[in-house]
Amino acid sequence: MTRYSELARRLDAPAADAWAVHDRALAMQRSGEPVVVLSIGDPDFRTPDPIIDNAVSHLRIGRTHYSPALGEINLRRAVADYENRVSPHDCAVDQVGIFPGVTAGLFAALSCLVDRGDGVVVVDPQYVGYMPMLLGLDVDVQMVRARPELGFEPTADEIIDAIQDHTRVVLLNTPGNPTGAIIGAETLQRVLAECQARDIWLVTDEIYSMFTFDRPHVSARTAAERLDNLVVVDGLSKSHAMTGWRVGWTVAPAEFTEHLGRFAEMSIFGCPQFVQDAAAFALNNDEYYVRDMRDEYRRRRNAVCDRLDSIQGLTARRPEAGMFVMIDVRELYADDQQFANELLDTVGLSVLPGSAFGESTAGHVRFSLVQPLNVLMEGCQRLETFVSRL
Ligand SMILES: Cc1ncc(COP(=O)(O)O)c(C=O)c1O
Repeated sequence: MTRYSELARRLDAPAADAWAVHDRALAMQRSGEPVVVLSIGDPDFRTPDPIIDNAVSHLRIGRTHYSPALGEINLRRAVADYENRVSPHDCAVDQVGIFPGVTAGLFAALSCLVDRGDGVVVVDPQYVGYMPMLLGLDVDVQMVRARPELGFEPTADEIIDAIQDHTRVVLLNTPGNPTGAIIGAETLQRVLAECQARDIWLVTDEIYSMFTFDRPHVSARTAAERLDNLVVVDGLSKSHAMTGWRVGWTVAPAEFTEHLGRFAEMSIFGCPQFVQDAAAFALNNDEYYVRDMRDEYRRRRNAVCDRLDSIQGLTARRPEAGMFVMIDVRELYADDQQFANELLDTVGLSVLPGSAFGESTAGHVRFSLVQPLNVLMEGCQRLETFVSRL
């Protein structure tokens, strides 16, 4: 019998049921059932036309060759300029690495920081993409439970208390998926200072940085007093509705970025030139696309939360950021998987069970805002119909 690597076998562990409801909803949709699918995280917006035009024109002039492993200088410069606009610390091009999406940037950073068995502190609930990565790296996961009563924002003490002798990395996602919780500047500053004192690294995934609704995002780089032992990962997937383009980046000390460069060289070997050209254009001219999309997400969040507030038995948590609303269903159902399955079967609405993201969001479901307002309102209506029948 063919033998595969230990890594391949680890990754072959049965996937969490995270996507089971979503997969079933898509199958029902394919068979013609009028299902409302609010279990996704891919923005419904089209990538803005000027970005598409820019990529096409660069394709036409032959920007189709190999690119340096760490990225084209024009995009690295655009990211550094962006960082210099939002953070008080200087950012130079040699601190920036370009990767095909935040996922690849995170994987490169973690791969250069941890060995098998090292400890990585992560917050529960977490983005469903983290666990396979941590499993792949075979690290010891040290979980911090975020509490619903604190709006799922972990405290500095909770994060610091989770650090053990073998911890090498603290991985934080702010604003967070699925809850939209923002980790405050003071918490980031304290955690980073602790990491620096113990030669541990703080890696932050800030992919929702451009979608905060009530107060501006504070990056770990902005909160930091010193930048050593800090890697910030961000990208254009959500902010510019560019999930399929695969554009992300790391901002880290120059010496660490050189390690990332060697990792990139033996793994991704550079991203497409025309994609990077368009990404640089997007970042340099992004004010109005991002503002318009953020305004629309805010409008959707307000309309959905106002509507859900009128449904008895449900408690919608108004997110400060991101593209999702967490709804507490514990008054009605102990099991969020069962709630999501019955919701799909009886009224044709698909949302993700909160337990897919961790124990802290068990008893909740994730209602996605990445559909036009009329579809979201139809989703709320179906939710009300379902709840009123109970
Ligand atoms: C927190 C978080 N990080 C990373 C990703 C993946 O980002 P990318 O598509 O840029 O790899 C997602 C996508 O949903 C996410 O929610």
